[in-house]
Amino acid sequence: MPAWLKDAVFYEIYPQSFYDTNADGIGDFQGIIEKLDYIKGLGCNALWINPCFDSPFKDAGYDVRDYMMAAPRYGTNEDLFRLFREAHARGIHVLLDLVPGHTSEEHKWFLKSGEAERNEYSDRYIWTDHWIKGIPGRPYIGGEFERNGVYMLNFFKCQPALNYGWKEPTEAWQQGIDDPGPRATREAIKEVMRFWLSHGCDGFRVDMAESLVKGDDDKRTGTCAVWRDLFSVKKEFPEAAFVAEWGHPELAITGAGFDMDFYLDHAGNGYNTLMRDYETAGGDHSYFLKDGGGDITRFLDDFLPRYEASKDHGFISFITCNHDTPRPSWTLSDRERKLAFAMIFTMPGVPFLYYGDEIGMRYCEELRTKEGGYTRTGSRTPMQWDESANKGFSTGRAEDLYLPVDSRENAPSVAAQEILKDSLLNTVREILALRHAEPGLQADTSFEVLHAIQGDPLFIYKRGDLTIAVNPSGEEKSSPAGILHGPGAEVLFRIGEASCKDDGAVCLGPQSFAILR
Ligand code: NOJ
Repeated sequence: MPAWLKDAVFYEIYPQSFYDTNADGIGDFQGIIEKLDYIKGLGCNALWINPCFDSPFKDAGYDVRDYMMAAPRYGTNEDLFRLFREAHARGIHVLLDLVPGHTSEEHKWFLKSGEAERNEYSDRYIWTDHWIKGIPGRPYIGGEFERNGVYMLNFFKCQPALNYGWKEPTEAWQQGIDDPGPRATREAIKEVMRFWLSHGCDGFRVDMAESLVKGDDDKRTGTCAVWRDLFSVKKEFPEAAFVAEWGHPELAITGAGFDMDFYLDHAGNGYNTLMRDYETAGGDHSYFLKDGGGDITRFLDDFLPRYEASKDHGFISFITCNHDTPRPSWTLSDRERKLAFAMIFTMPGVPFLYYGDEIGMRYCEELRTKEGGYTRTGSRTPMQWDESANKGFSTGRAEDLYLPVDSRENAPSVAAQEILKDSLLNTVREILALRHAEPGLQADTSFEVLHAIQGDPLFIYKRGDLTIAVNPSGEEKSSPAGILHGPGAEVLFRIGEASCKDDGAVCLGPQSFAILR
């Protein structure tokens, strides 16, 4: 596991919407370079950039047409290499987005694999051996190519599944994971990794990492084995970091060998109960919703076993949001998000901040789908930098923008929040600065629950020599005596009111958070 992860805080950039420097209405590499100082000043020392490779963009770039070529709309490979260098000069690491499970239907490997004559790419994707033979239980397409067979899809229609083999092949056209076709796929993906890593990239966020092997791989033993082989590149690039889009750290980290695994927003899981409980029948009982009557034990029952099973091998990555998830501002107030982010940024593991969440950018649910975004589009709007035209995102014409800027009343901006001492932006800065300064807040520092009781909003945990307490409810709450070992604890950071009693109890005002030593 690379040592730099211990103090890493990531910033996720959806490149389309971050900063446009050539006035064509879409963000670019130069735009990211120009905002590196802002990112560093925020307290983020690592980036994850969503796919920025050549693509027809039917799924916002998750349909890669050429893995080794930057998408011209963002710049050239040279520009991206320069971005790596500029980031490194500021102590910022950069992860690109690796999409190993599928390519675009326009990828040259795929076009070759559809040819009737056998060739180097015939086994690169999953094809049946007859034009009328489908793939039970899986989406597939027939009738498009000369080849006598149908091919499996991984996600959208434009994303044919790459062939990593089947756990236990049951049909002649299915290959085992160590057959020559799947092995060649692995080697090809290793080449992609090596290409970017050798040009200065620091690792990858990995798309749909859990589903490479097909068939009866419910326990993911096949997919974990494939990852362990893919990670042989780590020997050549020991400082490279990999974060999985998986959501099961006990498999992704401990089984497959990832350094980090996202705590994804899956309905009903622990993360979901913190900020996004709205899909659950019976109303929104999110822990951070002031009047939601939330319960931290729902989170802990899910989190603690996953943490215990993975903490010796890697890090769970909490997210404020991502490009697939409604922005937290959709349902949570500014104060509620301050508390939620304060907890996320003080938990063990390596956190990810989604661009614009630091100023409370809104989920624009009324937007029409863009590049396969559908309901995700509302979380992908242009960054709001200041109060100038297009909120400072672009000097292009408003009608040419990738997506409209949220310019409704009270739309937040960096410039407006910079000058407000208590803004969300400045709160995020303050807490991330503390995270970097305090050994107790490093990714691998111990974590212990001190107080978490069903029906009690107060949650208190220990990180190293620090005690951290949060009270999302509208009432003042006190812990039992003796949580702190005696009086006189120093309050290092607080939102709202926080005090320590002589008997060692912690007392938190309504909607409060405190870090104590
Ligand atoms: C997960 C990505 O986060 C999402 O945006 C994409 O559409 C799918 N994987 C397919 O690649």
